Amino acid sequence: MKTRITELFGIQHPIIQGGMHFVGLAEMASAVSNAGGLGIITGLTQPTPEKLVEEIAKCSKMTSKPFGVNLTFLPGFANPPYPEYIDAIIDGGVKVIETAGRSPEAYMDKIKGAGIKVIHKCTSVRHSLKAEKIGCHAVSVDGFECGGHPGEDDIPNMILLPRAAEELKIPFVASGGMADGRSLVAAMALGAEGMNMGTRFIATKEAPVHINVKNAIVAASELDTRLVMRGLRNTERVLTNAAVEKIVEIEKEKGDSIAIEDIRELVGGVYPRVMQEGLMDAGAWSCGMVAGLIHDIPTCQELIDNIMNEAEAIIRKRLEGFLAA
Ligand SMILES: Cc1cc2nc3c(=O)[nH]c(=O)nc-3n(C[C@H](O)[C@H](O)[C@H](O)COP(=O)(O)O)c2cc1C
Repeated sequence: MKTRITELFGIQHPIIQGGMHFVGLAEMASAVSNAGGLGIITGLTQPTPEKLVEEIAKCSKMTSKPFGVNLTFLPGFANPPYPEYIDAIIDGGVKVIETAGRSPEAYMDKIKGAGIKVIHKCTSVRHSLKAEKIGCHAVSVDGFECGGHPGEDDIPNMILLPRAAEELKIPFVASGGMADGRSLVAAMALGAEGMNMGTRFIATKEAPVHINVKNAIVAASELDTRLVMRGLRNTERVLTNAAVEKIVEIEKEKGDSIAIEDIRELVGGVYPRVMQEGLMDAGAWSCGMVAGLIHDIPTCQELIDNIMNEAEAIIRKRLEGFLAA
């Protein structure tokens, strides 16, 4: 399949693995890239820019195909040395950056000057247009269904994607709720030129996370996520667990007076404990509603091949069939 996204990134299939904290390591990114998609290393999972240089070098040894690095501009208190992380990406010879969180505007000259393509993840049409205006090459349009931070507008992809198509000139991929060939064809019908998946890629053989995490995603239904931190305007979609129930309780109790301190121990430092140690109730961790569509733990190659075969069958048989009839 050829789209402006496959051409832009030099990949075989229009499928991207979104940056994921403590999941987007070299093992994950290289497996997706080797399977013909675009794998992404999560920059800030590496504690220092020096460690990111090492992770990029490791990934380069594991694949000869293009891969990218996610740089998430965090809200509030945390302030990592972003220019140095960008230097690490440039020095590592990486050709794609996925930015997310706040606008990458301040760093665009530096990034584009190094010949790197930028795909910015946005949860609204207005942010997508801003990304286009500041020179991003593509956008990842992240609907309300998504795992992680859906923003505060709550617009699902059935509306958000065609709205993005009405306004954008640069290509975009659909993100949030994507799992299979049906998702890809639907996303493309709504105007996207590919798709970005997070949660689906965690339940793969190569994802470098504890088996408990993969099993939890397979066991979860579409009813098993919750939105937390809305009162802090930092809404996150997470998998329900004991810690999340506790957060929801505290949020109900505190109402508008909620502060990050009230829930810090339930949301801070959680990822290594969940992803590496498999402590499923350690705190809140991002997960999409798409868990309801995830029933297996394939290799990335099997997953991507199945998606592309299913997409082709839907287009050639199911959809064409309706026309022929
Ligand atoms: C466990 C997990 C961690 C994530 N961490 C990040 C992150 O650090 N930075 C980021 O930009 N997006 C992050 N995301 C969002 C994904 O990149 C992607 O946009 C999202 O998962 C898409 O929705 P889906 O899960 O329905 O596929 C994370 C998602 C998950 C599930």
